[in-house]
Amino acid sequence: MESIAAQNIVERVGNTPLIELSSFSTKNIKFYAKLEWYNPFGSVKDRAAYWMVKDAEKKGLLKKGKSIIIEPTSGNTGIALAGIAISLGYEVEIVIPEKVSGETKKILKDLGALLHETSDDLCPRVGAGTDQSIALAKAIAKPRPDLYYMPNQYENDANYLAHYESTGPEIWSQTNGKVSHFFTGCGTGGTITGVATYLKQKKSDVRIIAIQAQQNHLLQGLRNFEESAMPELFKRRQGVVDHWITATNKDSFEMARELAIRENLLVGPSSGSVMASMLEIANELQDGVFVGLFADDGRKFKSLYVDQGTFTSAEYDVLQNSGKNLPPLAYQKNR
Ligand SMILES: Cc1ncc(COP(=O)(O)O)c(C=O)c1O
Repeated sequence: MESIAAQNIVERVGNTPLIELSSFSTKNIKFYAKLEWYNPFGSVKDRAAYWMVKDAEKKGLLKKGKSIIIEPTSGNTGIALAGIAISLGYEVEIVIPEKVSGETKKILKDLGALLHETSDDLCPRVGAGTDQSIALAKAIAKPRPDLYYMPNQYENDANYLAHYESTGPEIWSQTNGKVSHFFTGCGTGGTITGVATYLKQKKSDVRIIAIQAQQNHLLQGLRNFEESAMPELFKRRQGVVDHWITATNKDSFEMARELAIRENLLVGPSSGSVMASMLEIANELQDGVFVGLFADDGRKFKSLYVDQGTFTSAEYDVLQNSGKNLPPLAYQKNR
């Protein structure tokens, strides 16, 4: 029989497009966005999830049809783990703050994950006594090591390696080594430490700009490091950061709207934070090749965007239905 060139969905992780944001580029400063929602489960977190699961398989920590993967997360890591782990034959349980949007919870349930809800803040906080999600996940997993495996993205070096081995090299080759500044929001720190370590090995004067959220933020996936301790994973390599920017809710949502109008991109809020930060730095420079990581698209954020006045419901629907920048996601295949 002739072989069929089918891939497992997990093999589609990575190799996301880099696009130029032409309406923002000037003669001397070029703006590019790495569109991470082209990953099969819709965000940059597919990379970390895939690397962590592969690493656990290599170490013999997972048994197909038997093991349950459990993780505390407010969104994208849960979706990524659920999509990837379930398609590889593992069950998934997610410990999630109840404040997380209904859209996100629905995606997780549709993918087949079991949810445990806590009354945490939006992002699980790292640090003594502040983090119910992490504590609950550990409490469920600890007595049953034969059954449960908790990747723990806050400490797991496979999260860093995902970006050192995939995102970083992709950016380097997609820009032909011309990248001068890299911008990303920070949660666990996996993306920034992995990409930055790789890029700086290639070209030591690449500037790395880390974006944290303001306190009391609405920017899912990002973290404020005064409110919440820096995760161990980030601390190990935090020296790679050259410059910090604190993104506000207001600027991030305004820039998400601007990206829709000027580039026809329906982005998630943290991409608004990244764009606002790129423009802030561009104001101070004569030239550069800027790459910003756009971690997810706006499809999970209708309720938030309408609530914040970023888009009216009708505007949002037009953007979502125009679909120019929105590939079909793996979790939407049955709809
Ligand atoms: C929605 C979202 N998730 C995750 C990340 C990156 O997270 P981490 O630092 O955990 O790699 C970002 C970064 O911009 C983000 O915007």
